[in-house]
Amino acid sequence: METTFEQQLERPVKSVLADFPALGALLGEFRIGCVDCGVGSCKFKEIEDIHRLAPEAERDLWTRLARIIEPGRTAQLPVRERAPAAPAASASPPIRQLVAEHRWILRWAAVIPRLAAELDLNREEDRRTVLAGVDFIRHYADRRHHGKEEDILFRYFDSGLDVLQAMLTDHVAGREHVRAIEAGVAARDDAAVREHLLAYAVLIREHIRKEDDILFPWLDRQLLDSQVGQMYAQFLEADRRFDRDPRQLENFVAELEARFDAAPAAAAR
Ligand SMILES: [Fe+2]
Ligand SMILES: [Fe+2]
Repeated sequence: METTFEQQLERPVKSVLADFPALGALLGEFRIGCVDCGVGSCKFKEIEDIHRLAPEAERDLWTRLARIIEPGRTAQLPVRERAPAAPAASASPPIRQLVAEHRWILRWAAVIPRLAAELDLNREEDRRTVLAGVDFIRHYADRRHHGKEEDILFRYFDSGLDVLQAMLTDHVAGREHVRAIEAGVAARDDAAVREHLLAYAVLIREHIRKEDDILFPWLDRQLLDSQVGQMYAQFLEADRRFDRDPRQLENFVAELEARFDAAPAAAAR
């Protein structure tokens, strides 16, 4: 096993965490969730570039990580090159659109526990509501939103990137929950529907957290202005081809919030 801090920087973050479990809590303190990430193929030295901390926090983090790996030695800390006049990070228009769609999906995920708690599939209203939820996921969250990610945004990047593969795996897992929810409604199986609704809510909240906090800012920084413009045009075209009214799908969420007296703000993660 490599021993110096500098050598650890070149290793996959998961391997370094396996050898030094105490690093996990420290990364968590900086809201860097490598322990739960599920990808973990980034090199250890790349974590900060992906997660972007302020300069003081960056120095503090590396100093403390080095102390855990090599107590008692002053290690050479990695230095990130910063653009001289880096503008305040602001998302490009297409990324802002994806994030706005996330808000509606999160609002739906936030009412799922209430719906699941009171679920009785012997009631027609509940069956209708769950199937409307399935419709929202299939058309708004999946075909419209994940469609833009999979067919447009992700295609600007290397499809072999583990982080993109992990996002696609989440999309597939979401579809499996949806199929199970639909089958559960047909079988009037309250327990199965409840289980898969709740599992979907957990999955999609965590998925969106990763995209909003880590993946999208990272991808956005790599896009050229010309690519952003081209992508935005493709998003508009995808929306034009979408054969449902997105407002009608969003209204389903708003109506459900009204039914459960849930404030939309409560859905903001
Ligand atoms: Fe996604
Ligand atoms: Fe997304």
